[in-house]
Amino acid sequence: MSQAPFPALRLRRTRSAPWSRAMVAETTLSPANLIWPLFVTEGSQVEEPIATLPGVSRWSVDLIAARAREALALGIPCIALFPNTPRALRTERGEEALNADNLMCRATSAIRDAVPDIGILTDVALDPYTAHGHDGIVDDQGRVLNDETMHVLVEQALVLARAGANIIAPSDMMDGRVGAIRAALEAENFPDVQIMAYAAKYASAFYGPFRDAVGSSGLLKGDKRGYQMDPANAEEALREVALDLAEGADTIMVKPGLPYLDIIRRVKERFEVPVFAYQVSGEYAMIEAAAAAGAGDRDALVLETLLAFRRAGCAGVLTYHAAHAARLLNAR
Ligand code: PBG
Repeated sequence: MSQAPFPALRLRRTRSAPWSRAMVAETTLSPANLIWPLFVTEGSQVEEPIATLPGVSRWSVDLIAARAREALALGIPCIALFPNTPRALRTERGEEALNADNLMCRATSAIRDAVPDIGILTDVALDPYTAHGHDGIVDDQGRVLNDETMHVLVEQALVLARAGANIIAPSDMMDGRVGAIRAALEAENFPDVQIMAYAAKYASAFYGPFRDAVGSSGLLKGDKRGYQMDPANAEEALREVALDLAEGADTIMVKPGLPYLDIIRRVKERFEVPVFAYQVSGEYAMIEAAAAAGAGDRDALVLETLLAFRRAGCAGVLTYHAAHAARLLNAR
């Protein structure tokens, strides 16, 4: 396709006024594209600010339904829950993950009862429950055992589905767990419970504030490179996605977000399935730090990064900025 040369063609023409920019915008961003993560903690009437995530709090179960109601009122269709499990309940094998009365289950059923129209996404992984901070069961050498962990993750997924979770999101990176969870959900008559597979989850330096938020920082022995992906790899991400889809994943998550837009784009083009990004805690903290340092306008940074995910091919973004971004979008 040949293009007319200047001055017949001036690409600035369509940029010259707001009405025209609105007409030619290729990408949209709305509150429906957002998932809002919420941290849950023990106690009542507790709102506990998280130092490394300025503006984000942990909430006690009695206050969590109100947050879900707020999300729905803002047009956010789905929330994601993460527990700050008390230290005393963290064990070598993370048994608390299977307690039907644990923080996650109580929060999930409280929201399910009070706000039936919101989607509830729950992570499946053992790190908020293990004394060593790993996502699975560890052997004598400190290796995370794949198959043994997988069986526990299946039970964890069922416990969460029974409590009312709509989306099971395995974030552990064990091989084979999507198929095993899908089979168990079908067998237990949860055909409509979705699986959003963290198919491409990288061993990243951007997870620091999250580990603070769930109380697992300082606990972690070693690192997670034996199961999370190497940031050097992209083809391997496509193999991960292909496997998870074949095993029954409904949607795909790429994590972290902004440093991995190339992965999002390649997954979207190759598989044509709904792809979500997790704009992780370290990304959130970087934007907040930049804004606090006067290096950029917070609201503009938030909306530009979220739009970038949409442009790369995301159906939606899991972001700690969800409620703030929804308010900005609703005010325009
Ligand atoms: C653990 C999990 C992590 C995050 C979500 N689920 C941390 C990790 O893998 O160590 C990080 C999210 C964030 O940084 O916001 N299964």
